[in-house]
Amino acid sequence: MSHLVTGIAQLVTNDPALGDGSELGLLEHAAIVVENERVAWVGPAVQAPSADTATDLGGRAVVPGFVDSHSHLVFAGDRSAEFAARMTGEPYTGGGIATTMAATRAAGDEELLEHVQKLLAEMRSQGTTTVEIKSGYGLDVEEEARALRIAAQVTSEVTFLGAHVVPPALRDRREDYVKLVAGDMLAACAPYARWADVFCEPASAYAFDGDETRTILQACAAAGLELRVHGNQLSAGPGVQIATELDAASVDHCTHLTDADVAALGAAGQRIDPENPSTGTVATLLPGVEFSTRSPYPDARRLLAAGAVIALASDCNPGSCFTSSMPLVIALAVREMNMSPAQALWSATLGGAIALRRNDIGRVRVGARADLAVLEAPSYLHLAYRPGVPLARTLEL
Ligand code: NIG
Ligand code: FE
Repeated sequence: MSHLVTGIAQLVTNDPALGDGSELGLLEHAAIVVENERVAWVGPAVQAPSADTATDLGGRAVVPGFVDSHSHLVFAGDRSAEFAARMTGEPYTGGGIATTMAATRAAGDEELLEHVQKLLAEMRSQGTTTVEIKSGYGLDVEEEARALRIAAQVTSEVTFLGAHVVPPALRDRREDYVKLVAGDMLAACAPYARWADVFCEPASAYAFDGDETRTILQACAAAGLELRVHGNQLSAGPGVQIATELDAASVDHCTHLTDADVAALGAAGQRIDPENPSTGTVATLLPGVEFSTRSPYPDARRLLAAGAVIALASDCNPGSCFTSSMPLVIALAVREMNMSPAQALWSATLGGAIALRRNDIGRVRVGARADLAVLEAPSYLHLAYRPGVPLARTLEL
C-alpha cells in the first residue's frame, strides 16, 4: 500500500541535498510518498507520482517527527509540591528522586505501563515520534529490571540508569551500591537495555562522582551497552570530560560548562558523521529543566561556535521537568539559549537521532522512516514564534 501526502506548504527534510540547500533542506509545495512506513519518494508536488491512497494537508508545514532522546517515563507519584517549593526559592538537588522511587516501587506493572502509555500518547499528540526511556526510580536489582522491561514494551531506545542516585537505604554504603550497579544489577538489566547512563554530579550528595561514574560506565560498556551521561547539571563537574573520553553517544544537561568542557564538546562534535553516527559525543540540552528548576540556561551559540553537535530533548520526569512538549523545548532553546529557530528544530529532530546514533530517523529522505509531524502553520518558524500553542501533531497515515 502506498500513500501520497500532498498539500505540504513547506517541508523540512534535514537533507541539504534536497530543496533550498540549507541545513534544513526546505522544500516549498512538496509531496511525499510513504510505503511500508518508509519514505518511498519526496519532491515537488508537481512531480509527485500516483499512489494507492492520498492525503491532502491543505497547505500546512511538515517536519521530521521530534526525536526525544532523553526521558524518564517509568514512574509513579506526584512531586508538584516540590516544584512549588522550588518556585519560591528551594534549590533542585536530586533528593526528591527517592520520593519517586518509593511511589514507583509501590506501583503495579499495569499501573506503570498505563502511565508510560499515557505520557507517550501526550508526546505523540505534540509531534514526537521517537522516545528514549530510562529506568532509575527502582534502584534495586528487581525494580530496575522491571522498569526496563516496561520501557522495552514501548520503545527500542531503553536506557539502564541504576546509577541515578544512591538509594536511601545505602547512603552510608555508597561503594556497595556502585558495586551492585556494576555487577548484579547490570547483569539483570543488560538484556532489556541498549544504553547505560549515570547521573554524574559531585555537587550532589545523591548522585555519582567522577570515579564512580567511570567504574559504572566501563562495566556497562564491557557488558555491551552503549553510553550516555547526565553531566554538568548542578555544577561544572567531570561529566562532560568522562563522556567525551569514553565516547558516549551523548552528555545531557550541560548546564554548567567550563571553557575546557566547551572545547571537549567541540572536538567530540567534529568526530560525528551525521550520515552514519557511530562515534563522537552530542551535547544534549534540556531547556525544560532550566525552566523548571530556575537554573541558568547554557549558551548554545558558544557550543555551536566550538563545533559541538547539539540535540534538544524534554527530560520528561516528575522532578526536574515534567513537560512532554518538544515544541516548548524548541521555543525555550530559541528564546533562552540563543539558538535560531532553524538550529533548534534541527537539534530536536536530526540532533536527537544522532544522539541515539540512528540514521533512519530525523530526516525526510527516501529510505528513512516516515516519521512525520504536521504543523497547524505554514512554516516551521511558528514552532518558536507561537510558544504554548498546540501546533504540532504526529502524522498518522
Ligand atoms: O534528568 N538529574 C537527574 N535526573 C533527572 C531528574 C530526576 C528527578 O528529579 O526525578 C534529570 O534532571
Ligand atoms: Fe534526565
